[in-house]
Amino acid sequence: MDQKHPPLGGQPSSQPGTPAGAAAALPEHCDFTVFGGTGDLAFRKLLPALFHRDLEGQLPDDFRIIGVSRSDLDTEGYQQLVREALPGHVDPAGHDPATYDAALQRLVGRLHHLVLDAEEPDDWHQLHGLLKDRGRTEAVGGPDEAVRVFYLAVAPALFGPICARLDEIGVVDPTARVVMEKPIGRDLASARAVNDAVGAVFDESQIFRIDHYLGKESVQNLLVTRFANTFLEPLWNSRWVDHVQITVAESLGVGERGGYYDGSGALRDMVQNHLLQLLCLTAMEPPTYVGRETVRDEKLKVLQALKPMGPQDVDRDTVRGQYRQGLVDGQAVAAYSDDLGRAGSSTETFVALKAEVQNWRWAGVPFYLRTGKRMDRRVSEIVVVFKEPPHAMFPGSEGATTANRLHILVQPDEGMRLHLTAKEPGPGGIRLRPVSLDLSYATTFTQRSPDAYERLLMDVVRGNPTHFMRRDEVEAAWSWVEPILERWDELGERPLRYPAGTTGPTAAAMLLERDGRAWQETDQ
Ligand code: BG6
Repeated sequence: MDQKHPPLGGQPSSQPGTPAGAAAALPEHCDFTVFGGTGDLAFRKLLPALFHRDLEGQLPDDFRIIGVSRSDLDTEGYQQLVREALPGHVDPAGHDPATYDAALQRLVGRLHHLVLDAEEPDDWHQLHGLLKDRGRTEAVGGPDEAVRVFYLAVAPALFGPICARLDEIGVVDPTARVVMEKPIGRDLASARAVNDAVGAVFDESQIFRIDHYLGKESVQNLLVTRFANTFLEPLWNSRWVDHVQITVAESLGVGERGGYYDGSGALRDMVQNHLLQLLCLTAMEPPTYVGRETVRDEKLKVLQALKPMGPQDVDRDTVRGQYRQGLVDGQAVAAYSDDLGRAGSSTETFVALKAEVQNWRWAGVPFYLRTGKRMDRRVSEIVVVFKEPPHAMFPGSEGATTANRLHILVQPDEGMRLHLTAKEPGPGGIRLRPVSLDLSYATTFTQRSPDAYERLLMDVVRGNPTHFMRRDEVEAAWSWVEPILERWDELGERPLRYPAGTTGPTAAAMLLERDGRAWQETDQ
């Protein structure tokens, strides 16, 4: 195997001093290859994201999208498939019909399809033929060079073999980038094996590990809220914060993904990545500037500061659940075992746990995390609960104040809500009332909130890895999660059942109740 390909100057992340806010220029030529080009992710997320960017005039003219799959399709067939499917994922309503049609036409014109079995060496010559010698009028890395993006929207077992093959056919150059979807491993050892295999071909600065939560507007705004304002930072520590809650609740079940999900479960599927990333952004120290490595350096420190979970901690501080039948939005829905098509699975569809960041800022402040499928509603939010006022100074106000809370609303509605105590208008004594200051993205900003993938895909094309997970972050997250998985395996207990359409097992409520706290359920 060739040496891996360190980036040339100016390419991917060789400019640690470039602030993330100052977007790098888009290349004029790009070949965006999607392995898994006919798959669910390509149709549901990647092509719609590229369509939106194209609609908004952001894709350079010379931007080819090469769908690679085992489906027996030629380019025309693929173009037809996308032309028919895309309106199912990007609603034409709300767009000017002529603009929509023109953008669809343009996107379809960018598409190519290659039939390729990733494990068949002979199939690769076509990809090589399509990519080689494109715009090579200057030296490698020059402005006429087509940037090559390889998006691995396939089973993780194929990540290593695909990269090795790309290397063999000579299409991995210093401008190339590879994008990996999770899951990256199912434990530390397997994550390392995937990272080693991909890292044998691509330099770390060329590897973009997607966690789509990092592309969500409100998640990115968390950094801005914390670090582009001054009023929060002095309070953002154990002196003033009582605890933090992070909830990612879904009302959907596992649907068609039971095969994958049953081998994973909520801890691997959601906590190891999305929830821990939210925790990192909430807890991290201010970087000197928001740049390619600086944010990731700070997030890594948070992961490394998580208090390790011993067996007793796992028993005391984690709750696993699995949904049984119930009602979601008034509709009867099946149990996990029915969705899966078999009984007896011990996979958790719900997790709640208590974590602690052992550093100067956060020691002693619990971070309660919970996530689940088939819960009462779809809601993701981070709630920072501040301490109660130290003393009740208004006559008769004992117990009448509520702790200040900052809700960072991630979805479905993006925004922020700060809960305060105010005086109820009127003469006589002072009566205290809880009130809130609300920021709703939908009403404050007129522009459409782009899907996370739109932002992240353009970051890949630009070569900006700030909002992607670095190898050390992924592995640190696995190191923390692994003892929980091991203890659960050792105990061999089945997860607690919770009725679909609820907030999970009652043990999740007890996790906070025993600390004298309660989950904050937001009315979005
Ligand atoms: C994915 C998980 O990473 O995130 C899914 O694999 C989950 O199980 C999804 O449904 C949730 O994403 P979002 O953006 O809908 O909250």
